[in-house]
Amino acid sequence: MTAARSLAAEDLTLAYGDRVIVQGLDLTIRPGAVTAIVGANGCGKSTVLRALARLLPPRGGRVLLDGSDIRARSSRDTARVLGLLPQSPVAPEGITVGDLVGRGRHPHLKLFARWGAHDYEAVAEALRATDLVELADRAVDELSGGQRQRAWIALALAQETDVLLLDEPTTFLDVAHQVEVLDLLTDLNRDRGTTIVMVLHDLNLAARYADEIIALKNGRIAAQGPPAAVVDADMVEEVFGMPSTVIIDPVSGKPAVMPKGRHHVRP
Ligand SMILES: Nc1ncnc2c1ncn2[C@@H]1O[C@H](COP(=O)(O)OP(=O)(O)OP(=O)(O)O)[C@@H](O)[C@H]1O
Ligand SMILES: [Mg+2]
Repeated sequence: MTAARSLAAEDLTLAYGDRVIVQGLDLTIRPGAVTAIVGANGCGKSTVLRALARLLPPRGGRVLLDGSDIRARSSRDTARVLGLLPQSPVAPEGITVGDLVGRGRHPHLKLFARWGAHDYEAVAEALRATDLVELADRAVDELSGGQRQRAWIALALAQETDVLLLDEPTTFLDVAHQVEVLDLLTDLNRDRGTTIVMVLHDLNLAARYADEIIALKNGRIAAQGPPAAVVDADMVEEVFGMPSTVIIDPVSGKPAVMPKGRHHVRP
């Protein structure tokens, strides 16, 4: 197990053309922890994640990986350390699940080098962990949304990086597979020390699985800390503009958010 990598942003400004999404953001990811980024649609979660993964060049400020500017590394070198599962990844047409997952090994291969035993092992292990062994020869285009999502997670696992950034890894998954994927990420974190940063929309799963929650609002950090310290009705109101009651999840003992809609509230 390697020492946990440090990942941080310093005075980060991110924009698309004239539209500034994030301005002067300072953010520190806890090394070796599981962090969940939560926040309303459009608040900048994916934008921040892409910047942390070196895919979106900052307009200002820096992303620091192990203390040095991530732009100073090549994309290949970054990909050996840090993996990203984007929110809406697009697979090359006709590619099979096995070949897609195999692409996770590319950053590790030397130019024209053949695959070694460890590369095959890493892919087989990723397929096993995501319950995809039987689907390895199927075309990714022909899978259900949830199966396809698992194929992308398998690719990220096969990359065997010390840091894993995942943008809504549980979308399209049925409730059992959501829990399975989050359990799997927790295993990776505990067994290999992988630093995990994921965007999650389900606040209850975020509170249950994350060591640290970062709540974003309009590109700023509204709250950061362990779920028990930051997930309360005030935070939910501030970040989502939604009244709720926060109870203790009877399974995990972590906070659980019960939204109050306009209907079905007991008098
Ligand atoms: N490629 C782009 N070009 C221009 N504007 C963009 C682009 N991508 C995102 N935006 C805008 O930036 C803002 C933040 O988007 P982002 O995708 O980071 O939000 P998010 O928090 O991930 O939302 P969601 O929960 O819906 O995924 C939004 O207003 C969005 O419209
Ligand atoms: Mg997003």
